[in-house]
Formats: sequence, structure tokens, C-alpha cells
Amino acid sequence: MDRDIAAHYELGHEADRLDTWGRLERERTLELLERHLPPAPADVLDVGGGPGAYAVRLARAGYAVRLVDPVELHVEQARAASAAQPDAPLAGAETGDARELPAGDASFDAVLLLGPLYHLQEAADRMRALREAARVLRPGGVVAVAAISRFASTIDGLLRARLTEPGFEAVLERGVRDGRHVNPDPVGHPHWFTTAFLHRPEELAGEVRAAGFELDALLAIEGVGAFLADASPWLDDPVRRELLMRAIRRVEAEPALLGASPHLLAVGRARANLD
Ligand SMILES: C[S@@+](CC[C@H](N)C(=O)[O-])C[C@H]1O[C@@H](n2cnc3c(N)ncnc32)[C@H](O)[C@@H]1O
Repeated sequence: MDRDIAAHYELGHEADRLDTWGRLERERTLELLERHLPPAPADVLDVGGGPGAYAVRLARAGYAVRLVDPVELHVEQARAASAAQPDAPLAGAETGDARELPAGDASFDAVLLLGPLYHLQEAADRMRALREAARVLRPGGVVAVAAISRFASTIDGLLRARLTEPGFEAVLERGVRDGRHVNPDPVGHPHWFTTAFLHRPEELAGEVRAAGFELDALLAIEGVGAFLADASPWLDDPVRRELLMRAIRRVEAEPALLGASPHLLAVGRARANLD
């Protein structure tokens, strides 16, 4: 694993991200997973599952979930989250890499890749990760692949005024130019994220198809909700929450708006025969 990526996650900030500024991402991701995953009970492999935010919720919903992540701290946090719900524990949590999954052929009904694809800067590595997902899926199984938009740093740079921080514009410019997000000072600026690849929407769709999947959907995760600097007041109020979620849902697949969503989700389906 890239040393900068490992060092970033060893800081431990990932565990509360989805409970704080990533709440809208979490709520929408859960909504899209609920819509696109096969119904429970089913076997799910959460690759790059981090501290287990989605894994434990899916386990609670009746899925048998195994989590794989290269960061030991994340695996420990996922095990702790699992132990905290003894009536619906994970089926397992272990260290591993998306490019070489510790799982047998055709052994899962769904694979989540909510992280690995945007941390692999080389197209060949992303293809290996997608092909591994295809290998471990049963025919007809579903892969859910998250990507970060090519334009996420531009949006974030303005909404959170990162653009005024010396050095950030160069990071943003490179990312827009060739998709490579590189944080030149990971210790001084942990909030500038870490080594990542930023997809154009059509690039994500193309990679999922090139790995042999049928593309079922290409969707905005936060979508137009990202235009809110802080979605919390909307999410905290049940009426405004529904207005917000409907507004996002209504245009979630609109090609003209996809790149304006910080995160994208591609849903693919494994064919019976991959060659
Ligand atoms: C931003 S976190 C997302 C965690 C969780 N899936 C979520 O959506 O909240 C990205 C995760 O991808 C993991 N990751 C990075 N490179 C990976 C790789 N090559 N294989 C598997 N996971 C990887 C990281 O360790 C981290 O846990």
C-alpha cells in the first residue's frame, strides 16, 4: 500500500468521518445500497470497508458481511464495531488488498468497493481490483463501486475555502488535469486528503464495463446536496431531510450533473462467464 495513504489513515480520522461532515454521503450511500444490493440474507464482501460503518449496518440488516482492508487500525475498529452488536456481528474482518482478495471464486452475492478504486492511481491496478471483485462474485452478483469526482477538489476548495490555503490550488489543478490527487504535505494538511485518483463519470462507467460487468447504474452520491456547505440542518429536520433526499434522487443519474457530485457510485452486475 502507498505509504502516504497508510500514514493518512493511521491518523485515525476515518472512524468518525461519516458521522460528521460525511453524513450526507453516508445517508445516500445507504439508500443506494438498499436499492441495488440483493435482498438479505446474502453474502457481502466489503473491500476497503474501513472502520466498518457500512459493514455493521448491513450485518444488522441481515447480511453476512466480511470486511477486508489493508489498514490494520481499520480492521481493529471494524472488529470492535462488530463486537458492539453481538446480535448481528460481522462474518469476519481481516487485512487484505482489493487487488488480491483473500476470498474464493464465486463466493459472494455482492462486493462493495467503496474506497479502493479512488486510492489506486494506476488504471491497471483499478482493473485488477475490479477483476478480483468479478472473480469472487457469483453469476448475477452485484458490485457497488465508489469514485471521487474529477471536480471534487474544485467544489470542496470553494465551499470550505481550501482554495485560500497556500498550495491547495496546485493540488486541485493537477487533479483536474490528469486525475491524480497528490497531497504534498500529508502531515501539515491531513484535511487535503491523500493520494487518490479522481474519475470523470464516463471513465468510471468505462472501467466497470471494461472489467466485464454489465453497468446497472451510474449515480451521484451526494449529488446536488453537495451545493450545501453544511447538510446537517437539513438532515436533522425530518421534513427538510425528505425534501433534500428527493431533490438529490430526482437528478441522481442526470449526466449533466454527475461530475458535480463529490462521490459517484457505479453499480455493476457480474455476467455468468468472464473471459
Ligand atoms: C475513505 S475510506 C472509505 C471507507 C469505507 N468504505 C467508506 O466508504 O466509508 C477508503 C478505504 O479504502 C481503503 N483502501 C485503500 N487502498 C486500498 C486497497 N488497495 N485495497 C483495499 N482497500 C484499500 C483504505 O484503507 C480505507 O479504509
